[in-house]
Parts: sequence; structure tokens; C-alpha cells
Amino acid sequence: MNQATPLASPKVTVVGSLNVDLVCRARRRPDTGETLIGDAFDIFTGGKGFNQATAAARLGAEVTLIGSVGADLFGDMLLAATENERINNRFVTKRGEVGTGVATIVIEPDGDNSIIVVPRANMALTRADIDAAADEIANANVLLLQLETPVAASAHAAAIAKAHGTTVILNPAPAQPLPDSLLASVDILIPNESETELLSGIKIDNHEDARRAAEVLRGRMVAAPSTAVVLTLGVQGALMLTATESAHVPALTVDAVDTTGAGDAFCGALATTLASGETLRGAVAFANAAGAAAVTVVGATPSMPTREKVMTRDFCELSDLL
Ligand code: RIB
Repeated sequence: MNQATPLASPKVTVVGSLNVDLVCRARRRPDTGETLIGDAFDIFTGGKGFNQATAAARLGAEVTLIGSVGADLFGDMLLAATENERINNRFVTKRGEVGTGVATIVIEPDGDNSIIVVPRANMALTRADIDAAADEIANANVLLLQLETPVAASAHAAAIAKAHGTTVILNPAPAQPLPDSLLASVDILIPNESETELLSGIKIDNHEDARRAAEVLRGRMVAAPSTAVVLTLGVQGALMLTATESAHVPALTVDAVDTTGAGDAFCGALATTLASGETLRGAVAFANAAGAAAVTVVGATPSMPTREKVMTRDFCELSDLL
């Protein structure tokens, strides 16, 4: 495989959230009832849907984003950002009755984060919004979903994708129980460790636990050769489980400044690489490098890497990616 040369023009459609991230950097999280003086403050675009759409666009995919913002300054900021990233925003609906989604984020010196998301307009996305964009789902190579928009809308999008042969990837974040109606249409599930624990009921303390949990999750999906689970395990890397293969991809060692959005870079990269026709094993290796690149930059959307950045020696395991 040679990821330095992009393959055929991949088409990725994302149903997901658009947020504005209010980011404080501080030496630690405040305790209950405590006021703490922080070190820095930034306002960034974010939201798992917009971040993943941005990652896919920067990595060379033709991207459509289906979502919902408020008729306010933050909504305008996000719509302008979709244009900057060359993301088709025709199906991002502006709603007058509710404000744009926001996330308040605290980043500690080691790069770890705590996030509160208030979804607001993201939760106003309807099945009718999905129907309006049905052609963009049917004609995509990959449909990419998360859980910051209504599950009913995502399940509807997934069913349309399934009926048209579009590969469905679900990043079940933030963690919540998943209805079988959604799982029935998912080809590839990409949970992180805490999401895996919630969905499988298995506490993950080592690789064997992770593999067992992945098996439980894959057992809840349709019993087809194409279904797979890819667990993202932070500093432990990623674990991929298909009908025939279980593989662990170790994490790359980098200087982390902000882990926010690393999972989004991983999902956007995996979707784009698969949509290009790459194998799942190759896509996981590339996504692993994209996630590592993301943690070296402050801010979620700003950290979504380009293909050139992922392909530098800092981020790719040459044996896997070249
Ligand atoms: O995954 C990171 C994202 O989670 C942030 O951009 C924030 O908006 C929340 O949605």
C-alpha cells in the first residue's frame, strides 16, 4: 500500500454535531466548589461530526456534512468553517428556535481533557433532514456517524446507507446504550475504552479484556463477514476484530499537548482510507497515525491532520504505511 498517493476520489458523508469549543488550559481540573485561575483560553470550532468531516476533507475525501446549527454567531462561525474546509454544507440546517451546540473543555498540562457538551441545535436534527440528504448518503462510499445527534436520525441514515451499499461506520461517542435498530445497519463500530466498557459490560484492564469486549460487541452486530469492531485504546493503540482476524496496532509515541479530537482524527482517517478502497488493516494503521498527529496540536478541529502531515516520519510506522 502507498498512502502517499491518494487513491480514487473517496466520498464520505457525515451525520453529526457541530459545536463551538470553549477551551481553558489549567494546571488541573477544579474541585467541587473551587474557583481556579487558568493559564490560557481559546475558542475553536469542534463537535465530533464537524471534526470528523474536517479530518476526512483534509485527508482528501469529498465530504458532505448533515447537521444542525442555531441562527447565531456560533452557527455562522461553523458554517464559514465548513466552507473553508471545502465541506458540502447544503444539509447543515440553521434553526432559529435553538442555539448552536457548545462544549466547555479543560485541558491539563499532560494533554488530557474533560468535556461538557451542551448539544442544543444538534439535537434538533430530524429524520426529514436525513431524507432531504438521502442521495448524499446513497452515493457515498462511507457514511460516518457519532452520538451527538439524535439516535433516531442516525439510525434512519444508516438504514438508507445499508439499502444502497454504502459502508456504515459508527463512532458511539459520547457513550450511551445503542438500540439494535442502529447496530443492525453498522458495518464498522469504533468505540474508545470507556464506550466499549459501557456497551460490552466488560471492564478493560488488558489486551485480552479488550479482545473479549470486541467479540461481545461484534456479536451484537449483523453476523456478516464485513462487520468489524475497531477499539481505540489511547496510549495502548488500537485493536481490530473482524470475522477472520484480530490485530493489535500499537500507539505511536508522540509529545501530547491536547488529546481532544484524537478519536475524531482516527475516525475521519479510517473512513477516508476505507472509502479509497484500502483494506481495513491498512486503514486502521493510517488512522492510528492520524490520531497520533492530532494530539500534538491544541484544539480539536485545528488538530485534524493533512495527508502530508500523517505521512511524515514522526507519525507513520513506515513498515505499515509505505
Ligand atoms: O471529540 C472532541 C469533540 O467532542 C469536541 O470538539 C467537542 O465539541 C465535543 O463534541
